[in-house]
Amino acid sequence: MHLFVTGGAGFIGSAFVRLILAEEPGWRVTNFDALTYAGNLDNLIGVDPRRHRFIHGDIADRAAVAAALDEGMDALVHFAAESHVDRSIESADAFLRTNVLGTQVLLDCARLKRTKRFVQISTDEVMGSLPDDASAFFREDSPYAPNNPYAASKAAAEHLVRAAHHTFGLDVVITRCGNNYGPFQFPEKLIPLTLARALADQPIPVYGDGRQVRDWIYVTDHCRAIRAVLLKGRTGEIYHIGSRNERCNLELVEAILDTLGKPRSLIEFVTDRPGHDRRYAIDPGKIERELDWRPRETWQSGLARTIRWYQENPQWRRG
Ligand SMILES: NC(=O)c1ccc[n+]([C@@H]2O[C@H](COP(=O)([O-])OP(=O)(O)OC[C@H]3O[C@@H](n4cnc5c(N)ncnc54)[C@H](O)[C@@H]3O)[C@@H](O)[C@H]2O)c1
Repeated sequence: MHLFVTGGAGFIGSAFVRLILAEEPGWRVTNFDALTYAGNLDNLIGVDPRRHRFIHGDIADRAAVAAALDEGMDALVHFAAESHVDRSIESADAFLRTNVLGTQVLLDCARLKRTKRFVQISTDEVMGSLPDDASAFFREDSPYAPNNPYAASKAAAEHLVRAAHHTFGLDVVITRCGNNYGPFQFPEKLIPLTLARALADQPIPVYGDGRQVRDWIYVTDHCRAIRAVLLKGRTGEIYHIGSRNERCNLELVEAILDTLGKPRSLIEFVTDRPGHDRRYAIDPGKIERELDWRPRETWQSGLARTIRWYQENPQWRRG
């Protein structure tokens, strides 16, 4: 297999590239990334250079994508995105350019270059917020209801992917996942930020009352699920990926502080994010049933692994 991966220098994309090169000996990866503030080639140190080709480029630049994408590649796995909700609230321009226009450019090029499969990496945020009712879950047929500019741009991208399938017969699959955690995450996101601040004995900001619930998954489990969808997912389908691991933000921050032996008094409640979604929870029943995928990490093992990694890699704790 020869994969064209976009955003493979970011948090999840680089975990996917490392997984594929470690576990799929016959596969090659062309990694196309603009190296924005969130991309870092250090995430790829140690990958086999004979099977990994890095190309510095912008997915919204049609000529650059067309030049980088070989004819008839096995799959285009599309991670590249502006991904931080707070930044999208400050200004949505880059989100529309990369997440919407960039996705359309990739779809057009994939069609023209006869790429065999297009895998869109999406998010549970396209479905908005769930009530605090333990029986309510996001399912693949839940309605779109994005509540912030990031989520709206990812929902728009999904529509474009769906349209490319319907109109042009492009072989597409869409994955939607909840919050990822693990090594190499940019320190503006909740878990690395909390770890960086706690290890430096600095206050840890928690939005509002900290009761916002997220469905957490260890990043390598997410990547294994993407590989399963790439290989066995049914064309035109959406697959939800989740670990059945709902945690509220406050509980998560407290768990990290307790593990590190740091006082909970470091928590500082700050004004809530505007329009902050209350609860995300994914029903992963479809991918479990159809593709026989299960996460390998528990919350305890994944969090312990993540905390250890940030302790051993102080250069990452820039937060
Ligand atoms: N992080 C999560 O918890 C999460 C959850 C569900 C879905 N997702 C989705 O997974 C994907 C990856 O998320 P992440 O957390 O790794 O993001 P990230 O912000 O860590 O990485 C994004 C990568 O995309 C690259 N990029 C940005 N704009 C680009 C452009 N115009 N052209 C080429 N490359 C560009 C960046 O340089 C970076 O390497 C995104 O599509 C995101 O929507 C993330």
